[in-house]
Amino acid sequence: CNRFCSILDGVVMELQDCALPLLREVIPTDKVELGFKDLDAAILVGSMPRKEGMERKDLLKANVAIFKTQGAALEKYAKKSVRVLVVGNPANTNCLIASKSAPSIPKENFSCLTRLDHNRARSQVAMRCGVPADAVKNVIIWGNHSSTQYPDVHHAMVNVHGKEVEAYSAVKDDSWLKGDFISTVQLRGAAVIKARKLSSAMSAAKAICDHMRDWWFGTLDGEFMSMGVYAGGNSYGIPEDLIYSFPVHIKNKSWNIHDGLPINDFSRAKMDATAAELVEERDTALSFLSQ
Ligand code: LMR
Repeated sequence: CNRFCSILDGVVMELQDCALPLLREVIPTDKVELGFKDLDAAILVGSMPRKEGMERKDLLKANVAIFKTQGAALEKYAKKSVRVLVVGNPANTNCLIASKSAPSIPKENFSCLTRLDHNRARSQVAMRCGVPADAVKNVIIWGNHSSTQYPDVHHAMVNVHGKEVEAYSAVKDDSWLKGDFISTVQLRGAAVIKARKLSSAMSAAKAICDHMRDWWFGTLDGEFMSMGVYAGGNSYGIPEDLIYSFPVHIKNKSWNIHDGLPINDFSRAKMDATAAELVEERDTALSFLSQ
């Protein structure tokens, strides 16, 4: 058994050790025809991580190859109703490539993970206000799962001693909310890597569970969650043909972007900046896809 096979054995053992009530069988394999067969849900975790000295372009090129293959495998073997969550970075653009490589699966069935950033934003505000994380709702992550993402709390509410208060009033520190709060969430992934010498694991796994659970069972009334989804037809002026993180409601396994939120100039500039980064990533990735 090679190293890869032994790592996979370890993952199988951990899955068994979770004693998950819905787990019937684990099929460890590197064969796409087995791994992607009749899937209802696909969580695409693996990607080529950025290594020292690597240009963004090299990273995109390697990942286009990976997500083209995985998209093609979904197209060929998975159910057309499969729900796909892309976690491997650069997650938004990888997700777009997978979707383009699976043309018969609806674009709405593809998403990328920004729930980790959403949870980070929620938790930062909660700690600042001295309340539990679930006392904070309706934070938004706009855009790319990268350092240009825009964590926005203009529409967030905090439950302080049983009373719902706007986040800006609960925090009472606008300069923190417009400064360090945003950069802390934007750079949190890098901070975790610096501290652990490894990418986030526990918080990423929790965010994946949160994302998939909400996709299956829906979001709570009056609450939206952040999810990287296809931007086609959005009402926020974000360029189409991107996977962009928006606030979404989910019902009957379908997401809808929460429309009609007022956007001030501060937010507009940040939403556009992260969109511009995604347009650039997309155009570079598409040039590799067509090669
Ligand atoms: C995170 O946000 O924790 C990760 O996406 C960071 C990374 O690059 O692995």
